[in-house]
Amino acid sequence: MNNITVLPGDGIGPEIVDQAIRVLRKVSGLFALDIICDTADIGGASIDRFGTAITDETLRKCRESKAVLLGAVGGPKWESTRPDSPRPEDALLKLRKELGLFANLRPVKVYDNLLSASALKEEIIKGVDILFLRELTGDVYFGKKERVIENGIVMAYDTMIYRDFEIERIAKLAFEMAKLRKRKVTSVEKANVVESSRLWREIVTEVHRDYRDVELIHMYVDNAAMQLVKDPRQFDVIVTSNMFGDILSDEAAMIAGSIGLIPSASLRQDSFGLYEPIHGSAPDIAGKGIANPLATILSVAMMLEFTFKNIAAARSIENAVRTFLDKGCRTADIYNEKEDAGEPAGTAQAGDIIIDLIE
Ligand code: IPM
Ligand code: MG
Repeated sequence: MNNITVLPGDGIGPEIVDQAIRVLRKVSGLFALDIICDTADIGGASIDRFGTAITDETLRKCRESKAVLLGAVGGPKWESTRPDSPRPEDALLKLRKELGLFANLRPVKVYDNLLSASALKEEIIKGVDILFLRELTGDVYFGKKERVIENGIVMAYDTMIYRDFEIERIAKLAFEMAKLRKRKVTSVEKANVVESSRLWREIVTEVHRDYRDVELIHMYVDNAAMQLVKDPRQFDVIVTSNMFGDILSDEAAMIAGSIGLIPSASLRQDSFGLYEPIHGSAPDIAGKGIANPLATILSVAMMLEFTFKNIAAARSIENAVRTFLDKGCRTADIYNEKEDAGEPAGTAQAGDIIIDLIE
């Protein structure tokens, strides 16, 4: 039995997760996957019910399942800046940290039929295929942070911290992944200023000694942000820290056309994984039935590949998504008034079409 925990969360989370689960059911039928889903609250939904962004019970459920599928967390209702108020995002960070999910894979691929959806020129983005490998359990996200008052002055600080083993294991994975691709790793940091970045560069260089057949390029994060829009085709695997990876992957999503297209897998050494779109809860469009479910549907494909090791099932979803786009189907976020025919598909309608296309 393959049990997974489903955490729809806030905003558009429940809508997009519904479609992803429908797709999963179709694929598990076709490939006899025997998947059982158990749903639980997370984020703001959990704060409202239990006063905490994730309960111990939900955490236990996740720990005992083979994989977790998550929608999105957060929203204006819970956006207090008071240090002691519970935040929906805490749940996500706790899940990643407590489950040891140090490797976050965010593939950014440009579909040939979707070139016009991007804000960038077609000749710059055609053929882009980047795998972001974002370190997920270290950095300023988890370093000591505090708000202090000294002599009447209010201060706040966060600590950007990395330990050698944290850098080593993500670097290894980056080179391993690059071996299955174009054999090029760009390691992104800010070693000209930041001490933890200097350690990052040293360790990545050391790990590289075991991977001489993979090209390694060190790049400062400011330059990487520029290169991503100037010439994104130069990248194959980008390995970077938690914070830089968060920022650069949002930027890179716009190369593909919309953040609503980018899935992610958060992994550790075994086959367990947390799968979620890289976008947020989009409160402005929640409940309208227009959110793009593709990133979440593609996250299910990543689950089938990395947790259930069923490549055929994963490809069947990816192919259906590609065909959906090839046929000219568009959700509102990638709809181009001048070029696209008809009306953009709603969330459930997009789900219907993709389910029909899966074979
Ligand atoms: C992401 C999100 C999260 C992050 C937020 C919601 C805490 O932006 O997964 O990219 O910063 O990691
Ligand atoms: Mg982010």
